[in-house]
Amino acid sequence: MGVPAETTAKSKAFFFTAQVLAAAAAVLVLVWCIHLRGGLAFQSAGDKSLIFNVHPVLMLIGFIIMGSEALPWSKQVNKCIHLILHGLALVLGAVGISAAFKFHNELGISNLYSLHSWLGLGTISLYGIQWILGFVTFLFPGASGSLKATFLPWHAVFGVFVYLLGIVSAELGFLEKLTFLETFGTVNRFSGEAFLVNCTALAVLLLGVSVVLSLIASHLESTKVYSAD
Ligand code: HEM
Ligand code: HEM
Repeated sequence: MGVPAETTAKSKAFFFTAQVLAAAAAVLVLVWCIHLRGGLAFQSAGDKSLIFNVHPVLMLIGFIIMGSEALPWSKQVNKCIHLILHGLALVLGAVGISAAFKFHNELGISNLYSLHSWLGLGTISLYGIQWILGFVTFLFPGASGSLKATFLPWHAVFGVFVYLLGIVSAELGFLEKLTFLETFGTVNRFSGEAFLVNCTALAVLLLGVSVVLSLIASHLESTKVYSAD
């Protein structure tokens, strides 16, 4: 995917860093869930953990990474790319969450008992609200010019907030799953797998930082608010 036309030099550097981190995180989560945890399946009569594995893969690649790709494409000419990629992230995120519920329900495990699940559900709900408000304000039916101008900074701030909340939810998810695996003795604390999962979570954290720095850099460079004199 190319760089949006309006981005400036520093913003581009953060944007490319984000692309590299996104690719690394995607490869790592696939290696973990497919190669080390046995694969992905929406239906499984035997090994139910294959249903769970769909959750981290879709939440990371479908929700977080797709959302990261959507953010820089917001300017007027790219508005539809921004809208479609965020819409796709929302749908894939919802499917990813349904895989976690399915896994719990088929094994008779209770739902929504963890901080991760509360923040996760909060994130996807706020993301849905953000998308609907963005759609009705900026596209259809579209608000008046002055209302659009008033709403725009709130849309941007709330958008960054909800994106970062997604990053925090994913971090808690990796921590929780790895802790389960280590507690039940499935994975050794000093194993290559534990190292891989921690590196994936680190890549996701740095991805979030790079995406937000890229947005901030493009604003600082285009407004030039500060002066060295
Ligand atoms: C932004 C991304 C994510 C969101 C929005 C999210 C959301 C959720 C939700 C709503 C549940 C509750 C399902 C239920 O109660 O049946 C859940 C469960 C779970 N998720 Fe995630 N998740 C995300 C990423 C991840 C990642 C990357 C992992 C890493 C493996 C993960 C691991 C888990 C685990 C272990 C559970 C089952 C235990 C629990 O309910 O806390 N999640 N997730
Ligand atoms: C969950 C979904 C969404 C999120 C997280 C989100 C987030 C953001 C963020 C962070 C910005 C500021 C970008 C920057 O500073 O460069 C932005 C700008 C914008 N977004 Fe969204 N957005 C979402 C959905 C939508 C939708 C559905 C529309 C409808 C068309 C939309 C239209 C816009 C527009 C017009 C801008 C301003 C572009 C400009 O500065 O000229 N957004 N969005």
